[in-house]
Amino acid sequence: MPAEGSIAERAEAQWQALLTRRRGGTVPQGGALAELYGPLCAIAPGEDFAIAHLAQSLDGRIATTSGTSRWISGEEDLRHTHRLRALADAVIVGADTILHDDPLLTVRRCAGAHPARVVVDANRKLSAQHRVFTDPSAPTFVIAADDRGKGTTLGRAEILRLPRENGIIAPRAIRAALAARGLHWLFIEGGGVTISHFLRAGSLDRLHLTVAPMILGSGRPSLTLPEIAAPEFGLRPKIRRTALGEDMLFDCAFFD
Ligand SMILES: NC(=O)c1ccc[n+]([C@@H]2O[C@H](COP(=O)([O-])OP(=O)(O)OC[C@H]3O[C@@H](n4cnc5c(N)ncnc54)[C@H](OP(=O)(O)O)[C@@H]3O)[C@@H](O)[C@H]2O)c1
Repeated sequence: MPAEGSIAERAEAQWQALLTRRRGGTVPQGGALAELYGPLCAIAPGEDFAIAHLAQSLDGRIATTSGTSRWISGEEDLRHTHRLRALADAVIVGADTILHDDPLLTVRRCAGAHPARVVVDANRKLSAQHRVFTDPSAPTFVIAADDRGKGTTLGRAEILRLPRENGIIAPRAIRAALAARGLHWLFIEGGGVTISHFLRAGSLDRLHLTVAPMILGSGRPSLTLPEIAAPEFGLRPKIRRTALGEDMLFDCAFFD
């Protein structure tokens, strides 16, 4: 039985190899990490790709009603989230995630470079005090509706203005605006509302849902899509399961 330290060291070495190969678009072979991250490293540089992740309770909640979500999933899933950040050109969150969590969105729980940070705040309800707008670690963009003001910056962040379509900013338009800035590999980190917009629009290639063995019984929902008439109309992505400590990660591929 190998010592604990050597398992951690092997995992770190595998992760470093994955990170190195990600930019070259080569699929790493072998190892537990390669199974989970290999398909994500196979995306060629410059190819448009979007993945989302949510940690949810057994009853499909991502936070309490008041917006507290730290933490639903365990340490391994938190490290997984940071690995997705490290693989991404840009990490995207909705305005309410900034309001409730005030995250930095940098890579700290694994090796890797910080992605650009993107906050979708169509109605400009956020102030410049949030950490993501004051921290200089990575470029930051605010996606705002073009009917909300004319300023070009919020703190250190650059404001990109896009038109509304049916009341929201179309995920397709967000992806195009980011691609025009060289940001192709996108990680949508939450919350449920923002990811649901991408999923509903068919603008999500992959979804990682981590289910934690707990019941909140109330709180903010994970995914919310338009009503369907019967279960047969539900989405059936190709699924692969990976245990992350006590939690179970469902890797959902929509277009494979
Ligand atoms: N468990 C997890 O994995 C996880 C991850 C992230 C966050 N969270 C938690 O989830 C909660 C926040 O999630 P949430 O689902 O309530 O909100 P959210 O997705 O963070 O933010 C939603 C808001 O962002 C704006 N927005 C996002 N996409 C838009 C688009 N395409 N067009 C226009 N506006 C757009 C809208 O603002 P307007 O309201 O101004 O229209 C929308 O109401 C927090 O409590 C946070 O702690 C949990």
